[in-house]
Amino acid sequence: MRRSCLPKCRLGRIMGWLQILLGGLVIIVSISSLFKFYSAGFFLRNEDICRQFYGGKDAYEGFDINALFDRVGEVLNKLESLQEKLESAVQQMEKNKDVLHTTNITKLEYKKYLEEEVIRPLYSAHISLRLIRLPNPEGIRNSTMKEEPLINTFVIEEIRKYITPKESRTGKINIYGTERIYNTIGHACVLYKKELEEYMNYDIGSYCNDDWNLAQKLMLNGCDPLPRRRCLTRASKVYQKPYPINESLWKLPDDRNVRWSNYQCRNFKCLMSNNSKRGYSKCVGCFETEKEKLKWVVTNSSLPVDFLISDVLAIKSGEIRIGLDFGVGTGTFAARMIENNVTVVSTALNLGAPFNEMIALRGLVPLYVTLNQRLPFFDNIMDLIHTAGFLDGWIDLQLLDFILFDWDRILRPGGLLWIDRFFCNKKDLDDFMYMFLQLRYKKHKWAISPKSKDEVYFSAVLEKPPRAI
Ligand SMILES: *[C@@H]1O[C@H](CO)[C@@H](O)[C@H](O)[C@H]1NC(C)=O
Ligand SMILES: *[C@@H]1O[C@H](CO)[C@@H](O)[C@H](O)[C@H]1NC(C)=O
Ligand SMILES: *[C@@H]1O[C@H](CO)[C@@H](O)[C@H](O)[C@H]1NC(C)=O
Ligand SMILES: *[C@@H]1O[C@H](CO)[C@@H](O)[C@H](O)[C@H]1NC(C)=O
Ligand SMILES: *[C@@H]1O[C@H](CO)[C@@H](O)[C@H](O)[C@H]1NC(C)=O
Ligand SMILES: *[C@@H]1O[C@H](CO)[C@@H](O)[C@H](O)[C@H]1NC(C)=O
Repeated sequence: MRRSCLPKCRLGRIMGWLQILLGGLVIIVSISSLFKFYSAGFFLRNEDICRQFYGGKDAYEGFDINALFDRVGEVLNKLESLQEKLESAVQQMEKNKDVLHTTNITKLEYKKYLEEEVIRPLYSAHISLRLIRLPNPEGIRNSTMKEEPLINTFVIEEIRKYITPKESRTGKINIYGTERIYNTIGHACVLYKKELEEYMNYDIGSYCNDDWNLAQKLMLNGCDPLPRRRCLTRASKVYQKPYPINESLWKLPDDRNVRWSNYQCRNFKCLMSNNSKRGYSKCVGCFETEKEKLKWVVTNSSLPVDFLISDVLAIKSGEIRIGLDFGVGTGTFAARMIENNVTVVSTALNLGAPFNEMIALRGLVPLYVTLNQRLPFFDNIMDLIHTAGFLDGWIDLQLLDFILFDWDRILRPGGLLWIDRFFCNKKDLDDFMYMFLQLRYKKHKWAISPKSKDEVYFSAVLEKPPRAI
């Protein structure tokens, strides 16, 4: 009995739902017109209208009115597209009226439609409206505190929460001596708003997307440092325990310990230099242990620019204990140094190959930093900075200047700067030499040799002088 009535009853129910929906839409559209009104300035008080029309600055100092209008516009667009979608769905239903009688829309499909096509966009529009933070004209607690201008630039709730300054729970000045903690994002993030919002769009507490390459793209483009996230990072399903330290230094790691989905290669063997489809171009041959084993320990008489680790360490016998290897590589320099009881941190970016994982699986420390940022080390602490394969003739002289001064900052007096196989065009050599010499370091080793017809290699070991000022 009940069964035979089902199709009709269902149709009735669907129509009932649609009526409710359309009613809801009317309300939404009314609200949106209200906002259109608002954005045109009709609800502002007289003096506000004056500010609005006479080109005065933003209505409240430090409050980003343009960003607010952008946000409202975004909500309007969302509502409009939702409305269009629903209307076209209804039209489609009317067209297929006859089919409607005979076709069964299962409850599940119906629920799915409502959830995905109606509730979710409606909810996101709702949230966007709620998140528009209007400033309090009286000022927020302290009249010296300004509205954070960036907040209204973003829609994704998580990123807005992230950049809102966090007050101390006790209401006192915190350990840093500041009133609030500022979670910062690089200002260039604004240029990559879409990508950043994609990066911050996740369900809190659930798994993150497998998107380290999106994150790295943001970092490389100046959105650096990236915001923290509250989702669980993915890992290889079949992660194996690493090799013991007496074996891991010179052994290719287990393929299963790397998530390969974002690389051209799917295993370490594929990263060999003879494979033209290996997916990276810097540091070709880095993944070949036999070749790597020769570096810095075997004399290559044909090239005077290749110094040996033993010779460099002998300059400051026993004094070199910690260092930084700034370059692209798989940690071989750090591996050789740890055999000499020197702890070296290696910078690494996953540019087409899992350099960070490789270094870590060898039992060494990868430091995931770009050229964009000040190094996260304090002044006058490092015994050694080694750089190879990264700073070449492509680098802008002013950028190189900033980098050199930052290295100088972290290097201790008496510490060594080892420039290893820097290469550039012959005619640019003088410019670069001047850059390296301007810091007035003591020259321990200095060598130049031809790389090709137009290019030269240059290596040096320089010592930072004492600075008693
Ligand atoms: C609709 O559902 C009824 C009972 O649930 C079933 O007998 C009938 O075959 C279905 N019709 C279609 C077109 O799926
Ligand atoms: C407001 O902030 C300023 C500077 O941050 C501070 O000197 C002042 O004491 C604060 N005033 C109040 C009422 O908290
Ligand atoms: C590494 O050390 C473990 C125990 O410490 C030992 O059993 C193993 O044989 C060593 N491996 C090599 C290659 O020396
Ligand atoms: C690369 O060389 C290794 C041996 O050195 C060999 O086993 C491998 O098959 C080669 N790969 C390609 C793609 O030629
Ligand atoms: C030695 O120098 C030659 C070029 O003269 C180069 O091809 C080779 O890779 C170098 N070997 C090492 C271990 O650096
Ligand atoms: C490293 O330190 C160990 C233990 O102190 C010592 O036995 C070893 O000779 C040192 N190696 C080098 C290369 O100095």
